[in-house]
Amino acid sequence: MHAMVYDDYGDVNVLHVSCVPSPVRQEEQVLIEVWASSVNPIDCRLRSGELKGLLLGGFPRVPGYDVAGIIADCPPDSSLHAGDRVVAFLDSVRGGACADYAVCGVNAVTKLPDCLPTDVAAAMPLAGTTALQSLRDHGGMKPGDHVLVNGASGGVGMFAVQIAKAHDCHVGAVASGENRDFCLSLGADKFYNYETTDFTKSEERWDIIFDAAGKVSFFDARHVMNEKSRYVSTEPDVRGMLMTLLTWPLSKSGKVMLAKPNAEDLRELIGLYEMGKLNITIDSHFLMIDIAAAHSRVESGVDCGKVVILSEKYRPAKF
Ligand SMILES: NC(=O)c1ccc[n+]([C@@H]2O[C@H](COP(=O)([O-])OP(=O)(O)OC[C@H]3O[C@@H](n4cnc5c(N)ncnc54)[C@H](OP(=O)(O)O)[C@@H]3O)[C@@H](O)[C@H]2O)c1
Repeated sequence: MHAMVYDDYGDVNVLHVSCVPSPVRQEEQVLIEVWASSVNPIDCRLRSGELKGLLLGGFPRVPGYDVAGIIADCPPDSSLHAGDRVVAFLDSVRGGACADYAVCGVNAVTKLPDCLPTDVAAAMPLAGTTALQSLRDHGGMKPGDHVLVNGASGGVGMFAVQIAKAHDCHVGAVASGENRDFCLSLGADKFYNYETTDFTKSEERWDIIFDAAGKVSFFDARHVMNEKSRYVSTEPDVRGMLMTLLTWPLSKSGKVMLAKPNAEDLRELIGLYEMGKLNITIDSHFLMIDIAAAHSRVESGVDCGKVVILSEKYRPAKF
């Protein structure tokens, strides 16, 4: 099959098309014909070599964790069938989305409703799951909580603001000034421009600080945390791991999260979309063959929302 690969770490120019063996579906896995994917900052960070220690194994590597497409093959006893339109968060740590075909466990894929277009669905898995698991599982979000999302205009933050609003929370959003209107359109009750205002020095107190951008440490954020507040970060660096260890017994605790593929969570996100509580903004579309340009777009900073990749097989007219 055709896949976009890189054979060494480097800038976007290491990405190129190659012929590689199709993935082989194991028991309890599905084979998906990939119609669309999306680029997450982790794809670029892995490709550049910034996170060398995080992903062992050799080259070539096929980037990407988000897949939307059609079931090509699945276990006979599964609730899915060949031809079903699905979305998946690939559960292989090595990714593999930017190819003609991808495999994942049956527990990491779910069927798409007719109302959710394939390209929009492709923007959801990693970013949406990260936001949901951060707030619900790590933040213990409950109705009425005051939730601060740092990096609210980005791929993860855009989901987080809307998920928190859907759970009847009071939401503060932090982003650059030019994304103020976008954050307010997501439902944020309060906006902080990080270029002019340091929210950690404000008077407002928060029950959950979700640092989606990975820019504010627990030790800075604790000044605006309530007595039993939770701080959740997406940045899996050594400082964050240490913070998780040191603060877990304290009433104000902090945690670095790692998103885990889970079909139930995808269904929860789809449910919010169907109820009109989740709007998925797409910054731009690129053809899969132009993946280098898509990675450049993410690295240079998207305006807001997600960068989506379309394969040759993408059929927008059908849905
Ligand atoms: N641990 C995990 O499992 C996991 C999962 C997903 C993502 N992540 C990580 O989460 C981070 C965000 O991902 P993403 O997809 O949301 O990225 P993204 O789409 O590039 O969004 C980045 C966001 O950060 C904001 N930002 C930039 N500088 C900031 C600052 N100094 N203070 C506050 N906000 C700032 C941006 O606002 P403006 O655009 O308005 O400047 C934007 O809202 C990445 O580092 C990614 O690697 C981790």
